[in-house]
Amino acid sequence: MSETKIDDKKILVTAALPYANGHIHIGHLVEYIQTDIWVRFQKLSGRRCLFICADDTHGTAIMIRARQEGRSEQELIAQMQAAHEKDFAGFDIEFDHYSSTNSQENYQLCTEIWSKLRSEGLIREDDVEQLYDPQVGTFLADRFVKGTCPECKSPGEYGDNCSKCSATYSPTDLIDPVSTLSGATPVKKTAKHLFIQIEQLRGFLTQWTQSGKHLQTEIANYLKGHFLGHPLRDWDVSRPEPYFGFAIPDSPGNYWYVWFDAPIGYIASTWQWCKRHNEQLSDWWQSEHTEIHHFIGKDITYFHTLFWPGVLKAVGYSLPSFVHIHGFLTVDKEKMAKTRGTMIRASKYLELLDPSYLRYYYASKLGPKPEDIDLNFQEFIAKVDSDLVGKVVNLASRTARFVEGTGLSIEYPHDGGLFAAGVVAGDRIAEAYEQGDYARAMRLIMELADAANSFVENTAPWTLKKDPTLQVRLQEVCTIVLNLFRQLCVYLAPVLPRLSQQCGKLLQREIVAWSDSKTPLVGTQVSKFEHLMQRVDPKKVQQMVDESKEVPKSDAPSVPVAQTPVQAVTSPAVTEAIEPLVAEPLAPTCTIEDFAKVDLRVARVIKAEEVPEAKKLVKLTVSLGGDVTRTVFAGIKAAYTLEQLEGRLVVIVANLQPRQMKFGLSEGMVTAAGAGGTEVFLLGVDTGAKPGHRVH
Ligand code: 2FM
Ligand code: ZN
Repeated sequence: MSETKIDDKKILVTAALPYANGHIHIGHLVEYIQTDIWVRFQKLSGRRCLFICADDTHGTAIMIRARQEGRSEQELIAQMQAAHEKDFAGFDIEFDHYSSTNSQENYQLCTEIWSKLRSEGLIREDDVEQLYDPQVGTFLADRFVKGTCPECKSPGEYGDNCSKCSATYSPTDLIDPVSTLSGATPVKKTAKHLFIQIEQLRGFLTQWTQSGKHLQTEIANYLKGHFLGHPLRDWDVSRPEPYFGFAIPDSPGNYWYVWFDAPIGYIASTWQWCKRHNEQLSDWWQSEHTEIHHFIGKDITYFHTLFWPGVLKAVGYSLPSFVHIHGFLTVDKEKMAKTRGTMIRASKYLELLDPSYLRYYYASKLGPKPEDIDLNFQEFIAKVDSDLVGKVVNLASRTARFVEGTGLSIEYPHDGGLFAAGVVAGDRIAEAYEQGDYARAMRLIMELADAANSFVENTAPWTLKKDPTLQVRLQEVCTIVLNLFRQLCVYLAPVLPRLSQQCGKLLQREIVAWSDSKTPLVGTQVSKFEHLMQRVDPKKVQQMVDESKEVPKSDAPSVPVAQTPVQAVTSPAVTEAIEPLVAEPLAPTCTIEDFAKVDLRVARVIKAEEVPEAKKLVKLTVSLGGDVTRTVFAGIKAAYTLEQLEGRLVVIVANLQPRQMKFGLSEGMVTAAGAGGTEVFLLGVDTGAKPGHRVH
């Protein structure tokens, strides 16, 4: 998969930066586990290796979500980054540095790289006509527009391609387009965009992608067939305001497109690490002594194999030594789906199952090619039970207790060549890890485990234990078996770091290097045996799937009113439906101080008016008592008539920063629950409450 490594080289490894607008799920974990295994293998083999990642924080989706949630983008991305880091840590994915693309270092690098691209004559400007949502006041990326396919006339298709006939088109070609943000009919609007003229780098890109050194063969062929045979289209790297990202210094009103600053985030995150560790960034990103390895999914191939190498080459940073590309995860050969409960969040998995199971299962499936891998829960349970519990952990659980008092023999006994065969196999296992062929590595390791288990069966230590004259033999047998166990734990350490730590504790010698597999331990003490790994509980697997099921959401655009979290009912008279809580899980815990920042007040609606330009909004004038009033725009038109609103009491967020909307200034937010559309339920208060009362 990659070139042979020279051991004095440094290695910098990245996994794709996860978007800050979603939680980590088991599909994402294929890549992070795959990369973590490779990094752990490199480190165990004694190589200097850095694992760098960050949250990918910019773009329209974050901006819109923050608006919908009535909070700043900064707050949203900080919360998501914390959630991502927690999930990764839960799966033993260990980064050397984890940062954010929304960093000062990234801005500085983007600026420097941009001015170099300008001076190389690679940037041009052009007008672009795009769909624009007049209600929300933003241009609409392809995925924010739905309409009827211009080819096959299938309704409800996204703006980039048709899920029915696979036609690709521009959102402006859709028939009867609708903004998924507001339900408004988008209008066409022209704005200036900036482009990188990637065609100018064709010579370099052809040579780099086709050299046979940096990409899997399938990927090189794909690029040749799909891109390099035609002129390369200029890459649009700017977006007009409003946009959440970095403003382009020499192009007022324009921002770098998220995909411009995201890969630069690899360098920026490394730079932060360098600052903390007193190292030079150039030693990692501009040095022939450092190899750079990117791990990505096949969906983002052309960003990483055309645009990114093109930019790096143009501005004088090191090119990736290898881009390792994996396929998608399917579950039971189907795309993951929330409705089937197969889009399982990392946090949900961790509530119920041991992360080592998934690490091992993915390892047993991953090969060096960019092929999809399938998760089948029956196979998952069978593999973990039979391989890890039945073959590996079994070696320790059947012997360790017998030598708790005596420790291991002083000399390594004759074992019929088992340990030595394991040492020889170690080279092939290492080669498989290096090449990203973890499936082969796991097969080779399990062959060794089979041989070790045959030895246990043949020597039957539990029988030896019963005969006082055979206690020396018992110690010898246990010494052999525990050393074979330890050898396997070294080989599995990149995949199962917890098991390797437990083994270190049991045999009182930490596993620190791949070479620990080459020499047996003798004469050392053995700790009291503690359970190493449980069988998979199939009920927990089922529970995980059940609790990941979400009812399909309607296509109704989201409502810009506050969504109050559903309150947990402690002792319901009847069991309430779980769907609302599943559709919107509880937010992370906040302190009483956090809550106190939000000033919720009872208010009376004194006037409710139509907003003719907005399909979903009504304009409310609410009284907080005396002559203190507020104007609030609320997305409740489909659920309430104006008559129903006038005179009633509501609860508003009274200290929300006012927001200028197209129709006027909104000075607060009316609280409501529900899924949107006609399903919006205003929060009321019991009789006796007065406008101006604070809600505590
Ligand atoms: O596809 C994604 O999830 C992107 N957030 C990956 C970015 S990788 C890198 F270029 F930053
Ligand atoms: Zn179609």
